[in-house]
Amino acid sequence: MNETLERWSSRRAFILAVTGAAVGLGNIWRFPYMTGENGGAVFLLLYVAFVVLLGVPVMMAEIMIGRAGRRSPMHSLAYLAQQAKTTPHWRWLGVFGALTVFFILSFYSVVSGWSIEFLIEAVNGDFVGLGPAEVGANFEAFLADPLRMTFNHTLFLLLTMSVVAAGVSNGLEKLNNLMMPLLYALLVVLVIHAAFTDGFAPALVWLFRPDFSAITVGVVINALGHAFFTLAVGACALMAYGAYMPDHQSLPRAAGAVAILDVAVALMAGIAIFSVVFSQGMDPGEGPGLMFVTLPIALADLPWGSLWLGLFFLLLLLATWTSSINLAEPMVATLQGFGLRRSRATAIVAGGVWLAGLLSVLSFSTMADVHWLAGMNFFELVTTVPTDIFLPIGGLLIATFAAWVLPRDTALRALDAGPNGFRAWRTLVRFVSIPLTLVVLLSGLI
Ligand code: PHE
Ligand code: NA
Repeated sequence: MNETLERWSSRRAFILAVTGAAVGLGNIWRFPYMTGENGGAVFLLLYVAFVVLLGVPVMMAEIMIGRAGRRSPMHSLAYLAQQAKTTPHWRWLGVFGALTVFFILSFYSVVSGWSIEFLIEAVNGDFVGLGPAEVGANFEAFLADPLRMTFNHTLFLLLTMSVVAAGVSNGLEKLNNLMMPLLYALLVVLVIHAAFTDGFAPALVWLFRPDFSAITVGVVINALGHAFFTLAVGACALMAYGAYMPDHQSLPRAAGAVAILDVAVALMAGIAIFSVVFSQGMDPGEGPGLMFVTLPIALADLPWGSLWLGLFFLLLLLATWTSSINLAEPMVATLQGFGLRRSRATAIVAGGVWLAGLLSVLSFSTMADVHWLAGMNFFELVTTVPTDIFLPIGGLLIATFAAWVLPRDTALRALDAGPNGFRAWRTLVRFVSIPLTLVVLLSGLI
């Protein structure tokens, strides 16, 4: 396979594309409920530490490989391994990434479908005048209805795959350009609104005053997995975008900007959501329904509440759309690598993900008590194992390849941060990111 000549139209377009992949359900849906289930501020602290020490350096490693290879993830790995005179088996890392995103996209599409449902209900005015208990009951009723959920899952997957089939970079730029600033603006409004409720002060305490006795191995592993997940690192998905990165753009600056934007969205969502939790006397450890129950309560009593709520779910939907396009890319690229046409590869991926998604849909009704592993139903399984175990393993291998295998000059050029910047990055990855990820993963196994 030959080098691709396609490039993002500008430096800003590249940053927007990566931010589009990073900002999604991870920030607005997963971050709040994981924080709620994992002791509050300690989880936030560990997650931010992991973002800085491993997330960002490994993100650079991943994009570097794509940028140096200028091919699909699998081909970039094979090509660079050949240049480094080492085994071509590194290309299986691309296949492993594709397997990881397969499971992730299967639940991602289902949960994004929930946003479609809530968008429609909000615009219909269905939440007007509902109290907390009724909003909760409404969500439960929706979860118990596999047909409605399947419809939304199908719709979301079709939206995603229609863009993927056309090739990623074109439409994506314009979408990101419009959606990201609107999403930030709306989150700022939500935080300001939260500041006027009695839940605001306890929410800040919950998020920012750590209770170190709450730290367990499980909390550390969840924070590690979440750092990779929220940055979209560890599945070779950003590697695919790195292949289109223009020359003359410093990678550390781009990666740093993305991480700051990503953490900012999570913090704003967390403040907005926990303010509702504490002003309504709800349980922070409520689980995956947390965001879907709290925000309708928060917004329904605002003037034009339905409109705000509708706008929120629309922006969330757009944010998850740009993430899911990125999630699909490694799979499509891998199948193309095995010689399939893009349209056929996309259709196969869509079919497989759709079927696996049905198992997640049914995990809320008929298959709720079917345990696949360690007492987890399918939804519980796919929302934990691929994110908390597969992504860190993938990240570990990606980091090893970039920092130990890639020839120095190739890596130096791909990072584009000068010799000192390169030395700092490589030292950090070799002696902090890789060992730290290993230690956390191994402590989880034991
Ligand atoms: N980063 C995305 C989110 O936070 C999820 C994602 C993971 C996207 C892995 C691509 C690859 O929602
Ligand atoms: Na994210």
